[in-house]
Amino acid sequence: IPPELRRIMEAHDLLRKFYHHLLLNTKEGQEALEYLLERGFTREEIEKFQIGWSLPSWDFAVKFLQKRGFDLPLMEKAGLIIQRDSDDQYFDRFRNRIMFPLFDHKGNTIAFSGRAFGKDEPKYLNSPETPAFNKSKILYNFHLARPAIKKQQKAVLLEGFADVIAANRAGVPNGIATMGTSLTDYHIQTLKRLTDSVAICYDSDSAGIEAAFRAAKMLEQNGIHIEIAQMPEQLDPDDYILKYGGEKFRTEVLGACKTFMAFKMYYFRRGKNLSNEGERLQYIEVILSEISHLDKAVERDHYLRQLADEFSLSLDALKQQQQEIYFSDKKGGKKEMQPERQIKPFVLQT
Ligand code: GTP
Ligand code: MN
Ligand code: MN
Ligand code: MN
Ligand code: MN
Repeated sequence: IPPELRRIMEAHDLLRKFYHHLLLNTKEGQEALEYLLERGFTREEIEKFQIGWSLPSWDFAVKFLQKRGFDLPLMEKAGLIIQRDSDDQYFDRFRNRIMFPLFDHKGNTIAFSGRAFGKDEPKYLNSPETPAFNKSKILYNFHLARPAIKKQQKAVLLEGFADVIAANRAGVPNGIATMGTSLTDYHIQTLKRLTDSVAICYDSDSAGIEAAFRAAKMLEQNGIHIEIAQMPEQLDPDDYILKYGGEKFRTEVLGACKTFMAFKMYYFRRGKNLSNEGERLQYIEVILSEISHLDKAVERDHYLRQLADEFSLSLDALKQQQQEIYFSDKKGGKKEMQPERQIKPFVLQT
């Protein structure tokens, strides 16, 4: 490890411990602790995820780091402090926030995400890109979830940090999340070294549904088997678990995952009025086109039957139209290239 990088990690490590101590053991941190406990976080989770709290001070971290001999320009490069243009003074990036340390795959603390617990904007403030932190490479909780992902041969992809922590409380240790950004090829390759199966459990609001659709497409294109979990009332996993409990989350949300095709049937009908004939026919056509992209004849048959049942159509007519769509998509170049099904490698060292 280059010395600069080591120094950056040391600074993060020390601050992580101090923020954690402030949250748990000080009077100043009490309000933040109460906020977390009220949200259902347990002390055990605060420990496990090393959650902390940063003081509402402009120069706590500056002084803390300076006193320990850290070079301030390097600490700015590390994203922990910022130099003001007007007078060249350094000030703290993270002030009065719930601090979620971000770890690399080896468990080194390399960045923070700070959540406001009032109405402060932004809701989550992340470390910038630094020599230690590249947000398109890091998955939240990956270092802790790795053995469970490997053992269960499945990862559960969630939208936010709070969801990962709540899922862990619910008995789902193989949960991970991006930094609030979309999934990258790098993330996918990282996961693929452990498993070729991912359950997507994003927020059930419209942003989450759109993001789940995009993530599912990317994962599928990389030969990963996907399932999609959904919650009622536009809830996210952490809301759901707080409201209905972990048991119900496991059985009725994760235990009732949809296939990507079933999710598409839900996705493409949102906002459509299917009692309107035109909209109904349009929907059926879109679904037929999706069905025609399925590899397996049994799957095509299954969804064609479902469509036939739901709209009281003849299976033969649907089959015929699906085949026509398949050939015209193909001729018009509309049919997406199907990635070759990847064969799961046997031995992959992690
Ligand atoms: P809580 O409100 O604490 O439960 O968070 P959440 O995880 O439900 O938040 P939300 O669904 O709004 O966002 C999901 C994820 O997107 C968060 O965990 C963050 O990683 C990220 N995110 C949300 N808001 C912001 C923001 O204002 N800035 C940045 N950089 N990321 C955000
Ligand atoms: Mn502790
Ligand atoms: Mn969301
Ligand atoms: Mn959410
Ligand atoms: Mn939430």
